[in-house]
Amino acid sequence: PYPMYEAVRSAQPVMYVEPLQLWSVFRYDDVKMVLSDHARFSSGPGGPPAAAGGPPNGDGFSLVTTDPPRHTDLRSLVNRAFTPKAVAALEPRIEQITHELLDQVSGTGQIDLVHDFTYPLPVIVIAELLGVPSNDRDRFKEWSDEVVASADAVIGGSHDKGKQANDEMNEYFRGIIAERRKAPREDLISSLIAVEEGAFRLSETDILSFCRLLLVAGNETTTNLIGNAVLSLLENPGELEKLRSNPDMLASTIEEVLRFRSPIQAMFRTAKEDVELRGQVIPKGSKVIAWIGSANRDEAKFADPARFDIARDPNPHIAFGHGIHFCLGAPLARLEAKVALTAILDRLPELRRENDEPLEPARGFIVHGVKSLPLRFNPTT
Ligand code: HEM
Repeated sequence: PYPMYEAVRSAQPVMYVEPLQLWSVFRYDDVKMVLSDHARFSSGPGGPPAAAGGPPNGDGFSLVTTDPPRHTDLRSLVNRAFTPKAVAALEPRIEQITHELLDQVSGTGQIDLVHDFTYPLPVIVIAELLGVPSNDRDRFKEWSDEVVASADAVIGGSHDKGKQANDEMNEYFRGIIAERRKAPREDLISSLIAVEEGAFRLSETDILSFCRLLLVAGNETTTNLIGNAVLSLLENPGELEKLRSNPDMLASTIEEVLRFRSPIQAMFRTAKEDVELRGQVIPKGSKVIAWIGSANRDEAKFADPARFDIARDPNPHIAFGHGIHFCLGAPLARLEAKVALTAILDRLPELRRENDEPLEPARGFIVHGVKSLPLRFNPTT
């Protein structure tokens, strides 16, 4: 998409796309403004819920599709349960899961990085975070796939299977919530039940919807962050070398991947009033797409934006959004990427593409990654 973004950033940075009846915004400053100006741009239902990560059938709350004041209450409750401390505590488990996944391939010399690694890792981590018992993990993964697929199908058509998965999952989580009410554990669901602020608590429906949101918002995004990182490093051997000799550059490498190949390319809003932008008027009620993927390559903000530079500093990318809806899972996504990349670089020597065939992109225009990434390396025992 990058050459297209570059062309429209200069020719038509604010563009009405007639066939889709959508306004598109491409420059860094405008994207940041649209994402964060919730007084003029609503996140509420109206934008395609799939794109926004909202629940397909619109029941219950979804942080990401709620405006203040309700968003403010929900977010502060959820923030209390989803603390940096709770996330950091997951590190040893993330390491263990990572190594278990790599153990399965390390002797073979080949891996489909997506299928064998970047795809299962985040699902297992979220299951663990929520406190899903490990013998239920497989069912959980099936539901999670259905929910993600059905969220996508909201644009394209029916989501009967997704609805069924939702119903099954709700029933399952109702059971877990009931158990945790009686006997709380050290998991996110227990914290969500316990958390309260003033007179405000999360209802069962709120907790169920939040669990589903985590599945949609937290899985494919993290899958693509790790895959995009490996791909960008393999395509830029000089940067890979630099990282190998300076492992403390891993954090800035991950930030550069987020900028360079943003896992979420766009988010939706609805204009709450007429908004004038670069000489055009976006009429009240219009759907607006803020192109994060374009903003992060804006030459007005980033020097040499098409260059993958792991030492880039400063790097004010907006891959996790901006303002009140800033990604709740950013610390978790960064942690998973750090653990995963450390292990991949360490355990898969001479990592290289299996062939030069073009890679098939992940579905849709919002999610940015590859469907599969076949790689070879020197087997280890
Ligand atoms: C919100 C990106 C990983 C949970 C967002 C938003 C973006 C984003 C752009 C803002 C949406 C908006 O402004 O409308 C990403 C990327 C990820 C990632 C690129 C990985 C690389 C995760 C993970 C989780 C998560 C791992 C949870 C486990 C959420 C939630 C929101 C959100 C709950 C809604 C926050 C709110 O509306 O207040 N994410 N995300 N994300 N993300 Fe992430």
